[in-house]
Amino acid sequence: MDQVIISGKQRLEGKVTIGGAKNAALPILASTLLGGGDCVVANLPQVRDVVTMVKLLHLLGVSEKTEGSCVTLNAAHINGTEAPYDLVKTMRASVLVLGPLLARFGEATVSLPGGCAIGTRPVNLHLKGLITLGADVFVEHGYIRAKASGLKGGRIELDFPTVTGTENLLMAACLATGTTVLHNAAKEPEIVDLADFLILRGAKIFGAGTDTITIEGVKELHGAEYAVTPDRVEAGTYLMAGAVTQGDVFVEQCIPGHLSAVLNKLQESGATVVEEKYGIRLTAQNRLKPVEIKTLVYPGFPTDLQAQMMALMSVADGTSVISETIFEGRFLHVPELHRMGAAIEVDGHHAVIQGKPSLTGAPVMASDLRASAGLILAGLAAEGKTTVSRVYHLDRGYERLEEKLQGLGANIQRISEPS
Ligand code: EPU
Repeated sequence: MDQVIISGKQRLEGKVTIGGAKNAALPILASTLLGGGDCVVANLPQVRDVVTMVKLLHLLGVSEKTEGSCVTLNAAHINGTEAPYDLVKTMRASVLVLGPLLARFGEATVSLPGGCAIGTRPVNLHLKGLITLGADVFVEHGYIRAKASGLKGGRIELDFPTVTGTENLLMAACLATGTTVLHNAAKEPEIVDLADFLILRGAKIFGAGTDTITIEGVKELHGAEYAVTPDRVEAGTYLMAGAVTQGDVFVEQCIPGHLSAVLNKLQESGATVVEEKYGIRLTAQNRLKPVEIKTLVYPGFPTDLQAQMMALMSVADGTSVISETIFEGRFLHVPELHRMGAAIEVDGHHAVIQGKPSLTGAPVMASDLRASAGLILAGLAAEGKTTVSRVYHLDRGYERLEEKLQGLGANIQRISEPS
């Protein structure tokens, strides 16, 4: 297993290019199951979750040809409708094949994802929505078994605007007969990206990006060429890396409008943020000021940037409060930040962070994808050496992170962990 070693206190300067969004790529890839034509998906991030999704589609019989960051998939003939435990346990987003398989082939068997480091993360709302569309759904022996002899459009009221739940139901409704209206739908940019891809393939979807999405079912979807939207979480992570080192970074090929809540908080904390034509420039001259943050569904502050923001606030000049309202268990980075000298107290879903002038490098362990990024940012701000282990979490969602940070002047490298 690899480790990442950082010697902190280097001011980051320069330009970094953002890749395609992992959380848009995953549903787009899963949705290729909805029809038989060639789907050419470009600007794919080279991260492990994308590799896992392509592997799952391959296992189901989808033909695949990958060239760099572009994959051509064709689901004309598939040889199974089951997503097995071995794959689903490594990536919860495998549940995204449930809606497309059921809608096109009338059956799907998908392992229940189970809990994960950041919370229990049930999929009850995905299943409830599919039942409204006429599916029979059973959970037995750790598997979701869904069957339908043709889904029928209906009115679905989501109790919470779940992101992958909205995506699963949106995909399923594309091939249902009649009209489906999804109320309280998620509004994340990744939903809009999926809808844009499906529309290009002949789907009839209205209102993606608002809380009411209307889908008029069609008989079939054809192939299309599409480029995945830039990764707003990757972009936010590099902006915060610039801020935590009091640096000057230009994050290019991102969409500033996807990051409004984050840019507002960075500005409130004293960083200078300039939205340019092809990206965002952040400059920070001094220690940042403390801020209050509450993670919310889009367009609020994203939970996927909470750990990184906490690292930033650990060296801010004052006391910050971060409230995590999306996942109940997403503070696992806190004990690791304590090891680096951070002063953080957690009370339920609130964390109170007393900023220190500096952190001290230490060996720390990553617990999940975004926590890993938070620890790396803390390492960039710390005196001395920080060693982050279990970085396989990082590889699930950040492409070439060390290389990109090195390009900004960070002293960071990856080594193979001694056994
Ligand atoms: N929830 C339910 N029932 C459901 C579905 C969700 O109770 O059927 C609850 C969850 O337990 C959670 C909340 O609703 O408390 C939000 O979960 P949501 O379903 O929106 O999250 P998700 O779809 O599982 C996606 C991203 C996550 C991101 C969240 C929130 C993908 C593949 N994953 O997860 O990304 O944190 O939305 O924005 O899109 C990451 O990239 O590191 C990551 C975890």
